[in-house]
Amino acid sequence: MITTAKKFDKVSGIYNTLIFQFIYFYIIHPLSFWFIKKNIKENYKILDIACGTGIFLKKIQNKYKNLQCFGIDNSEKMIGVAKKNENIQFLVAEADKIPFQNNSFDFVTIIDAFYYFPDKNKAIQECSRVLKQNGYLFIHSPAIDIFPNFLIYQIKLISKFLFFDLEDCSSFLKIKELKKIAEINHFKEIRRKNILLNRLFLFQKI
Ligand SMILES: C[S@@+](CC[C@H](N)C(=O)[O-])C[C@H]1O[C@@H](n2cnc3c(N)ncnc32)[C@H](O)[C@@H]1O
Repeated sequence: MITTAKKFDKVSGIYNTLIFQFIYFYIIHPLSFWFIKKNIKENYKILDIACGTGIFLKKIQNKYKNLQCFGIDNSEKMIGVAKKNENIQFLVAEADKIPFQNNSFDFVTIIDAFYYFPDKNKAIQECSRVLKQNGYLFIHSPAIDIFPNFLIYQIKLISKFLFFDLEDCSSFLKIKELKKIAEINHFKEIRRKNILLNRLFLFQKI
C-alpha cells in the first residue's frame, strides 16, 4: 500500500501551483490566520505540524517579522520544497513523534492534516509536550462529516487523479471526540467556529 507520505512526495513538485493552492490561498489559510491572529505575539516560537511546503508559515512570518517559525511534515519531498525558504527551519518528522524538547513552543498549528494522523491521541499528547504552559494549539479541519453528498462524490472522483484519498484518512473525528482527547492531554478549549464547511479550534495548554 502506498503511504500518505509517498503520495505527498509525488505531488510535491506541483503542490504550490494555483490549482492546488486555490482553496488554501482564498479560504483555508486566511480563515486560519483570522481565527488565531489575536493570540499571536511578535516574539512567539511557532510550530506548524504537517506543514506541507510551508506556505502557511511563510505567510504568517511575512506579517510578524520576529516570529521564530518551525515546520515538520512526514513527506521528505514536501519538506524539500519547503526548505527553499531559508528563514524557517523545516524537518521531516511524524506528527506523533515531534523532534523538539518539552515546553519549547508558544503556538502549535495543524492545518488540514489532522485527519491523516494514524494515532491522533499520541499527536495531541506530543503537541502538549512541546508546548509551554498557556501555549496555544490551533487545529483546522474540513468538516467532512457534514459535507453534502454531492461534494463527497466530487472529492472521491477528483481524488483518484490527485493525492487526496478519503479512504486514507483514518476517521474524521467528531467535535466531542476531539475535545475529549484535548482534555486528556491538558488542553482547554478557547474558541471554536464552523465556517464554510471548515472547523477551527483553538485550545490552550493548562
Ligand atoms: C493537505 S496537506 C496540508 C499542508 C499544510 N498544512 C497546508 O496548510 O498547506 C497535508 C499534509 O499533511 C502531511 N502529513 C500527513 N500525515 C502526516 C503525519 N502523520 N505526520 C506528519 N505529516 C503528515 C502530508 O505529508 C501533507 O504535507
